[in-house]
Amino acid sequence: MSKVIAVTSGKGGTGKSSICSGLGYTLAKQGSRTLIIELDFGLRCIDIIFGMQGKIKYDLGDVLHNRVKPLDAVTQVPMASNLNILCAPKDPFASATVEQIVDICKQIRKYFDYIIIDTGAGINSHVFDIVEQANTILVVTTPDPICVRDAQMMSDEFYNRGNKRQRLIINKVNKRAIGSELVKSLDEIIDTIGVQLIGVIPEDYELVIATGKGQPIPSTAPSLAAFDAIAKRLKGENAPLTVKIK
Ligand SMILES: Nc1ncnc2c1ncn2[C@@H]1O[C@H](COP(=O)(O)OP(=O)(O)OP(=O)(O)O)[C@@H](O)[C@H]1O
Ligand SMILES: [Mg+2]
Repeated sequence: MSKVIAVTSGKGGTGKSSICSGLGYTLAKQGSRTLIIELDFGLRCIDIIFGMQGKIKYDLGDVLHNRVKPLDAVTQVPMASNLNILCAPKDPFASATVEQIVDICKQIRKYFDYIIIDTGAGINSHVFDIVEQANTILVVTTPDPICVRDAQMMSDEFYNRGNKRQRLIINKVNKRAIGSELVKSLDEIIDTIGVQLIGVIPEDYELVIATGKGQPIPSTAPSLAAFDAIAKRLKGENAPLTVKIK
């Protein structure tokens, strides 16, 4: 049975989709059968990230309208044989109930080791209902204090609902931000949000280029080491919490 991992954040643009893609890519490269389900309705992007724009035959919209079975809407990604995606509907007004998403996961769980759910931006009860069904919730923040506060609000709400399966990812970290007037240390961010850290991802222009061009993340990219470590920690293996930040 696969493990369902939901990637979420209070503020938009924290890097959720990039993290789903990077993590999905490394999990697949490490040998795990991995599926990324994109729930950002109308704002599809994982087809671009994996260089598959115009090559997606069916998406989640087709599944929700009962045109195809969930597994038939899954597309294999050429850059990693174990990696698969289920793209969000193009229609921004499409919607899915929690029951529908849970049912889709239930139908395809046996085919994958990991299902990663990419959520859209913003706090709404719908996102909470869906995300809290996951085995692990990855709360994403950047060092920006506004982003940290939004992550804290999000995480507090999960705790209030009794959900203790949260882990924190601090993304877009650079030396300039940490130890500055705005952020004293990574510990300060972790203490404010109150969620156990699972990884720190450096600000990485190579990642921006790779995802924008639909190419694999190069082995030289600093973020790749971070994704690799997070993937290992998710599997319960030992891996460093932080990578070298430039
Ligand atoms: N570690 C990183 N270093 C540098 N840029 C990054 C990093 N992670 C993400 N980005 C960039 O930040 C922008 C937003 O990333 P992304 O789309 O993954 O965020 P998101 O949280 O999914 O956004 P949304 O809330 O709109 O869904 C993109 O331009 C992406 O390339
Ligand atoms: Mg996104």
